Parts: sequence; C-alpha cells; structure tokens
Amino acid sequence: MGAEVVIEGLTKSFGRQTIWRDVTLTLPPGEVSVMLGPSGTGKSVFLKSMIGLLKPDRGKCVINGVDIVRCSEHKLYETRKLFGVLFQDGALFGSMNLYDNVAFPLREHTKKSETEIRRIVLEKLEMTGLAGADKKLPGEISGGMRKRAGLARALVLDPEIILVDEPDSGLDPVRTTYISQLFLDVNAQIDATFLIVTHNINLARTVPDNLGMLFRKELVMFGPREVLLTSEEPVVKQFLNGRMDGPIGMSEEKDSATIAAERAMFEAGHHAGGVEEVVGIPPQMQPAPGLPTRQGAIRRKDRVMKILHKLPDAAQEGIIASLSPEEQRRYGVYPRTTTPTWEQTVETQPVPSHHQGQLPTGEVARLPRSGRPEQGPGAR
Ligand SMILES: Nc1ncnc2c1ncn2[C@@H]1O[C@H](COP(=O)(O)OP(=O)(O)O)[C@@H](O)[C@H]1O
Ligand SMILES: [Mg+2]
Repeated sequence: MGAEVVIEGLTKSFGRQTIWRDVTLTLPPGEVSVMLGPSGTGKSVFLKSMIGLLKPDRGKCVINGVDIVRCSEHKLYETRKLFGVLFQDGALFGSMNLYDNVAFPLREHTKKSETEIRRIVLEKLEMTGLAGADKKLPGEISGGMRKRAGLARALVLDPEIILVDEPDSGLDPVRTTYISQLFLDVNAQIDATFLIVTHNINLARTVPDNLGMLFRKELVMFGPREVLLTSEEPVVKQFLNGRMDGPIGMSEEKDSATIAAERAMFEAGHHAGGVEEVVGIPPQMQPAPGLPTRQGAIRRKDRVMKILHKLPDAAQEGIIASLSPEEQRRYGVYPRTTTPTWEQTVETQPVPSHHQGQLPTGEVARLPRSGRPEQGPGAR
C-alpha cells in the first residue's frame, strides 16, 4: 500500500512573495488525488516542496513519520526514494535512449546487476505501453510517449507516492485520456498514492478519488471528488466549467468591480465561454479490464462512508447515488431525492449515436440539457 502524506499548515514564499499559505490536507494511502489551480498558483512549487526540492517556510509534510520540512539531509534522501515524480516535460535525458533513461535511477541509486536492471526496465516499459521502444531517443518519439517514458522511469524504484505535474501539457484530449487511464492502471497494479496537479477539467472530473483546488494563495478546498464536483463555491464552479464568469480573471484574479461589470455583460447575453453547467457527477474512470480492482478505491469507499454525514448534501447524494443497490443496503443509505444522477440523465435521455456524425433535429431536441420545456423527466 502507498504511503500516507500528511500536510499541515504548509506555507511557502519566495522573498516577500507568498505563494500559498496554511495548506493542510492528507493524501490517503493508495488513493488518486488531483490538485487543480489556475496557472501560476504554485502547483509546481507545491510538488517540489513535497519532495524537499524547495524548502517551505512553515508547516509540516509528514511521510512515514518523517517531516521532510525539518528532517536531516540523510532522512530527506531516504524519504525521497519513496517518490516517483513525473515532471511536466518528462525530463528525459535527450542523448540517452529510453532504455538508459529508465535504467538511470537504478544505476544511480541501487547496486543491482545489469541483468536485474534489464528485467525491471523492460517490465516498466511494458507496463507503460512502450514495449519495443527502448532504443528510441526522446527526440524521436511523440509527446505522449515521452510522458509515458517519464512515468516508466518514475516507477523503477517501486515508489509509494507518485507525483505528476501537468500530465496533459502538450497533449491532445485523447492522449490526455490515455495517460489518465495509464495512471489508474498503474495505481491498480502497485497501489501507490498519486497526486496529479493540473488545470485540466476533464481529468479532474473523471480521474481522481479526491480533488483539491489552490487559488489566491490558499487551498480553497480538498476532499472526496464529489464534494468539489457539486460545490457551489464560485471559484470552484467557475474553474470546473471553464467560464469567464467568476472570480478568476485573465491573469489571475479579478477585483469585485470587474466581476460586477462582467456579470452584467454575461447577464445581457454575452457568452461566458466554457461548457454549460454539467449535471451530477460523471462516473470515475476505471482500470482497464483484466487489471486488479484498485485497493485505494475500496479503502476510499469505507473512508468516505465514515465521513459521509459531514459532507455537504449534494456531495452526500452524489456518493449515495454512485453506490450499487447492494452497497446502499450494506452501508444503510438510500438516495434522498429524485434529482437525476449523471448516469440516470444519460439513461433516460440517450444520446443517439450516428455513423455520419449527424443528428436528426428531433433527436437533437432530446439531448440532455438542451433546455426545451417539452423534454421528459431528467431534463433540466
Ligand atoms: N525558484 C523560484 N524562485 C522564485 N519564484 C518562483 C520559483 N519557482 C516558482 N516561483 C514563482 O512561484 C509562483 C508559482 O509558480 P508555479 O508553481 O510554477 O505555478 P503553477 O505550477 O501553478 O503554474 C510563480 O509566480 C513563480 O514565478
Ligand atoms: Mg506548473
């Protein structure tokens, strides 16, 4: 099982510029967490602080009883070995082929024989879908492959915690979904604790067990995915819908006058961009068929059901609706309202599939959330 990471009151500044302050959260062992935040909110600084590459001013980051903020150099070095890090650009050595790149940490940090190294490297290349690409140079492969190679390298020392910085940067939406699938597949196989920082909404909506958001130098929220996905908090809502309408502005944040002026503009009909507000909580992506069930997901279910009564109503309802009838019986919980869940909406209002990519008008009118008053149940 992956390690738990307990962060308390963590604060980081550079000179007089505070990046974020009083960040408190726990990454539950073996669960997948995503930290959202607009560009420049200090997501990369957060990851670097967690592995001691940057030194926070205050607070704790405790892993297996070691606070990496104030431990000795030796302890830090030892604790760092628990981490696998996938940096934004893959951070591969350009002059080394994939094999040598992936073998690098093993040659640096272990006394393993080349035979043993070979076994491990080929296994990780296989695990990340790169079997047969071992002789390629980073410059000869696609961005998606470079990221997977970076992940393979992050895996060779059997990490308990995997940190990922903006896995979607430079990737198209389909490749982003593939790499997301890979994270869940790897999680299912090694049960490591994951923290992925990103500003990708799709990934945030469908991948993690837990979701957090950094904004205005603070952790706005961190908790089970259902909490943020149903949150009415303006900044969370704006971000998850990718709209201009809200506290987040062009460079970082807006003052109240700007928010009011823009509000008027959007109310007068100007399109605020982004997607229409999505109803309910989309289903979470699952490991590929044939892989083990995620132990982190099983533990999470019990964990979340214990704190269910403390969560906001909408999150509670979303969580209850995501349980099977059998699980609802086992936990003794039942849906309280008739608000359709994401699945029910899709089920009662099936999106027709057409080979030509063209939908007859009658069926377009039946698409969920097209806002026509004559729609049946489930429409809003
Ligand atoms: N080593 C550093 N020295 C000084 N300022 C830094 C350093 N690293 C990052 N920053 C500043 O910290 C802020 C957050 O950066 P970063 O973590 O890269 O944001 P994000 O990853 O969320 O886009 C930025 O204003 C950046 O300029
Ligand atoms: Mg960054």
